[in-house]
Amino acid sequence: MPIYHQLGTMPPKRHITFRKESGGLYYEELIGNKGFVGPSSLLYHVQHPTQVRSVKLLKEILWEEDSDHTFRHRHFKTAQLKPTTSITADRIPLLFNQDVALEFAQPTKEDEYFYRNAQGDEIVYVSDGEGVLDTQLGEIPFHQGDYLVIPRGILHRYQFTKTPVKCLVIESRGYVRTPKRYRNEHGQLMESAPYSERDIRRPQNLQAFDQKGDFVIVVKKENRLTEFVLDHHPFDVVGWDGYYYPWAFNINDFEPRVGRVHLPPPTHQTFEGDNFVVCSFCPRPYDFDPRAVPVPYNHSNVMSDEVLYYASSEFMSRKGIEYGSVTLHPDGVPHGPHPGRTEQSLGQKETNELAVMVDTFHTLKVARQALGIEDPHYFQSWVETP
Ligand SMILES: [Fe+2]
Repeated sequence: MPIYHQLGTMPPKRHITFRKESGGLYYEELIGNKGFVGPSSLLYHVQHPTQVRSVKLLKEILWEEDSDHTFRHRHFKTAQLKPTTSITADRIPLLFNQDVALEFAQPTKEDEYFYRNAQGDEIVYVSDGEGVLDTQLGEIPFHQGDYLVIPRGILHRYQFTKTPVKCLVIESRGYVRTPKRYRNEHGQLMESAPYSERDIRRPQNLQAFDQKGDFVIVVKKENRLTEFVLDHHPFDVVGWDGYYYPWAFNINDFEPRVGRVHLPPPTHQTFEGDNFVVCSFCPRPYDFDPRAVPVPYNHSNVMSDEVLYYASSEFMSRKGIEYGSVTLHPDGVPHGPHPGRTEQSLGQKETNELAVMVDTFHTLKVARQALGIEDPHYFQSWVETP
């Protein structure tokens, strides 16, 4: 995030001695995207972060493509997924390509280990539940509707205070950022952006644990989970500063846009990744021209696959979807309102829809694990029945 942030204590300049009360040194660590040229933060540890006692390969994560390549619109119902144990290790893959993966998690318990994703940035959309994202850079309390943006390399774990917890996880190969067109040349979100820095919740309440012993961290890299056992508590940071840290933004803090006539989905863009975008469809008044057609027109997403996660059971242009539905409308087939929805929308004043959209510029593959929750007739759902 292009906002400078600092917590805890640190020396007045970078890369100089910083001593504990006992006289020993704190140990500096740079965590930076793109090596030394991207956004970065400097951390000050009680122990060396490099002290690893043992490593063990825990698990291979399979993102396997559906063997049925028949090209069509798809619909998956995450409400039919059974809960799994871990929010980090047991995610169910739904859709993926070389740039981004969409997974679903509904954990039954908290992880006993600390977790670091070393292959991608994560946007965790909290569809249900509450808790605290506990990180080496501080805590971020979270609740329903939050997007938790966790850049790769940041060690963290989740504490849950209200269950069930249900999350859509968007895992990105590229750096997740605010859309460039919302920022001025200095990085500040402009007055015209649909949210401001004030809506972005940064880590707080930094606590440093000076404890020796066996502490397990699990690192995700190349779709493998590897266990590292450190000889000390990894949350031992007494201070840090920089631009690289986890942050939260609630979907209800997105200021929805309304026009005289229908505005296209990019109006609702929330995040930017490499070759994909994330948009938020929030409750809002409908278009205000008396002749306006509030629901979207039919459209063909040429060079873009469109995914919608329905965070409420209402969506103005669709029927047959439910809370937790995921639809894939790929490039190559037009899609649009279901029969009757256009007529129904005329004269309506507002919508209570809540949905997360992910548009990818490369083709998405359907994960084999999603087939058991698929509505197989969705592609026919636009056919009018007498
Ligand atoms: Fe669409």
